[in-house]
Amino acid sequence: MTIHKKRIVILASGSGSNAQAIIDACAKDTIKGTVVKLITNVPSAYALERASNANIEATCIDHKTFADRDTFDAALSAEIDHAEPDVVVLAGFMRILSEGFVKKYLGKLLNIHPSLLPKYPGLHTHKRAIDNNDEEHGTSVHFVTPELDGGPVILQAKVPVFEDDTAEELASRVLVQEHKIYPIVVNWLCNERIALKNMKAYFDEMELPECGYASD
Ligand code: GAR
Repeated sequence: MTIHKKRIVILASGSGSNAQAIIDACAKDTIKGTVVKLITNVPSAYALERASNANIEATCIDHKTFADRDTFDAALSAEIDHAEPDVVVLAGFMRILSEGFVKKYLGKLLNIHPSLLPKYPGLHTHKRAIDNNDEEHGTSVHFVTPELDGGPVILQAKVPVFEDDTAEELASRVLVQEHKIYPIVVNWLCNERIALKNMKAYFDEMELPECGYASD
């Protein structure tokens, strides 16, 4: 039986190490999908190089050349739609997306956020965890909804916070976990094991708890 591989578009703004983990997982067939395009909003993003090294079409739509968020989002959306994706993955994409954009891709739009959501939506999550003397920190993969970093969590991974940690050290510990959990969740979406219904995440038709699958 031929299984139709899902078409994945990745949006990234920086190094693209999460994009790389997804590209590698597709190459190893641990994700039943193909990355058909990578789009950045930053011309110097290393993610572009990673895509071209993997022979994946890569484009930059520089948000600085647009008058406002809506015109940028419209251009981004047109570029995404060209690739006819089944799944759209935000992998370190550092732009707030308009409500209209998010609603258009509802259910096929995933994000990874470097905190144990609902803790620390927004920026500087590692520093905030250290400043609050948290003993654990981590990362969350979630469906994107119009509420910033507020969509339902699908899977989280925790890391310890050590006393003398810098934000950079903590960020790299978190990244190691991100590279493990993001491909798993992307594969679940490709295999239609997860779904977004009434702004809640479901796994095999069962509603997931607030901390997602494997919560303790
Ligand atoms: C990752 O840690 C990701 O969780 C975070 O940016 C980093 C990107 O790294 N995303 C956000 O902060 C989104 N709000 P990468 O470019 O090496 O994948």
